[in-house]
Amino acid sequence: MCGIVGIIGQGGATETLVQGLKKLEYRGYDSAGIFIHNTETDYLIKSVGRIAHLEEKLAPEIDGTMGIGHTRWATHGKPTEENAHPHQSSDGRFVLVHNGVIENYQELKQLLSKGVLGEDCTDTQIVVELISQLVAQHQLDAKEGLRQVLTLIKGSYAFALVDKKNPEAIYLAKNKSPLLIGVGEDFHGCCSDAMAMIEKTNQFVEIKDGEIVVLTKSSYQIESLAGEKVERAPYTAELDSQDLEKGTYEHYMLKEMEEQPAVIRRILSKYLDEHGNLTISKEVLDQLKASDRIYIVACGTSYHAGLVGKKLFETLTHIPTEVHIASEFGYHMPLLTKSPFFIFLSQSGETADSRQVLVQVADRYPTLTMTNTPGSTLSREASHTLLLHAGPEIAVASTKAYTAQLAVLAILANVLGQSLQNELALSFDLAHELSLVASGLEEVMAEKGQFEELAKEVISDQAHAFYIGRGLDYYVALEAALKLKEISYVHCEGYAAGELKHGPIALIENETPVIALLTEASTLDHTRGNMKEVESRGARVISLVSEQYATEQDTIVLPKVHSLLTPLITVLPTQYLAYYTSLNRGLDVDKPRNLAKSVTVE
Ligand code: AGP
Repeated sequence: MCGIVGIIGQGGATETLVQGLKKLEYRGYDSAGIFIHNTETDYLIKSVGRIAHLEEKLAPEIDGTMGIGHTRWATHGKPTEENAHPHQSSDGRFVLVHNGVIENYQELKQLLSKGVLGEDCTDTQIVVELISQLVAQHQLDAKEGLRQVLTLIKGSYAFALVDKKNPEAIYLAKNKSPLLIGVGEDFHGCCSDAMAMIEKTNQFVEIKDGEIVVLTKSSYQIESLAGEKVERAPYTAELDSQDLEKGTYEHYMLKEMEEQPAVIRRILSKYLDEHGNLTISKEVLDQLKASDRIYIVACGTSYHAGLVGKKLFETLTHIPTEVHIASEFGYHMPLLTKSPFFIFLSQSGETADSRQVLVQVADRYPTLTMTNTPGSTLSREASHTLLLHAGPEIAVASTKAYTAQLAVLAILANVLGQSLQNELALSFDLAHELSLVASGLEEVMAEKGQFEELAKEVISDQAHAFYIGRGLDYYVALEAALKLKEISYVHCEGYAAGELKHGPIALIENETPVIALLTEASTLDHTRGNMKEVESRGARVISLVSEQYATEQDTIVLPKVHSLLTPLITVLPTQYLAYYTSLNRGLDVDKPRNLAKSVTVE
């Protein structure tokens, strides 16, 4: 996902932009650039690779009181310095940064004077050129030129535009991609994530789809595409810049993995009322009780959390529940029941694949977003929001947000089940059981040395690996496989243990790691049978087993927790195995290749 930072009205703009872009590095990018204006001159500096390369091009005189900056994650056009943002119109007047994808960029290019742009220009270059061309042809001001181009665009965008002829303003516009206004004492700013400016202000104003903003040193003026003025007060962002630091940890991922016990305890504190009861708003409960099916829609790790959510809802509420991958559901929607209730799981709250589903259903059915990001698009556009309270998750590989999703799903399912007089829900002291999970996680953390050893001895030199399990263990196997893949680049499959013999067992070779998850009493023996099947074909089998089922032969023994909550424990050893394997392979644990923390393109 690209990152945008802008500032107007305060000296030291270069430092503000560079530090802000650094706070967005975790989202993934492959090039960066800044535009800086001061009373004498302007600077446009771009570089490929890390922001550190951009900094090497800076000098003390390159500073000013206004500027815009950008980190680019290439979608159209290679990650080159030329394709990096900010882009400048050919007449040198306009400078633009953009987050999103313009779908009809070829159509727009036809509107440009012939030959003004090369064949392999990016969608953003076309937009800034079109603004410049319309302004020149019709003697428009920058805002009007931007507005006219917006009426032609199809696709997602967050724009920050500068008109060098009027450097007293930055022009903003947004559709589907995140963009916020930062409100300071003697400046205004803009950013794609509050994290970029939290050290300068905690006052932010959301910009909604289809709005244009004129930002000056002393004001922000919001209006609709039709020109209606919009008044909107700032909100206070709950971020703490301390959360953004790694503290004593070498990597954000390890820090966030080991914050999981504290996150569960924080979630409990947020959802417990003054009588010690877990609570969910009556409106949400009423709409869920009126529904005849729950549809959970998500991507990646959040999708894996949704699978556990299905088990929780169907066990504790008896409401049939389906879980769908957002990018499939949006274009191949199944027949819906008469009264569906949609739950969107999204750590970032900005995932375009998930948001395109929300846009399709939000005006017809009740929707709830569970997210770690207050004020995010998926939060703002759903009927309801339940926050994960996991604190900023910086590492690209999601860990604490996954367990936070499981905890909040469990709370929602259990409170709903209790209001439906479900016997199991009524007898389920979830707050107590979740506090046992938090303690169990700390026990696992104390044993992390064994995971470091196993990663080195069994996985790090392998090209392929398998996680297998049944029921909830199968769902964790999917998440465990994703974690190993995305940060260690070991090809790994998460499989239903019973499925291996139906084909994939052909892939088992000598020393192929097969990690079996064993917490489900009802299928324990079957999974142990599957372990023997692969072991007899040369696999190196590792077993993660709940202590009440452990035998002398098992590799890793897990603390006993409630049978509906085992994924919150089982996932931690698999996160450690991925983490140490990535380290052993000398990779960038927090920023794996090709990945972005929040994928805001479909
Ligand atoms: C998680 O480790 C991955 N980086 C990725 O699968 C992520 O879960 C997915 O992109 C969904 O993101 P979201 O939760 O912010 O919607």
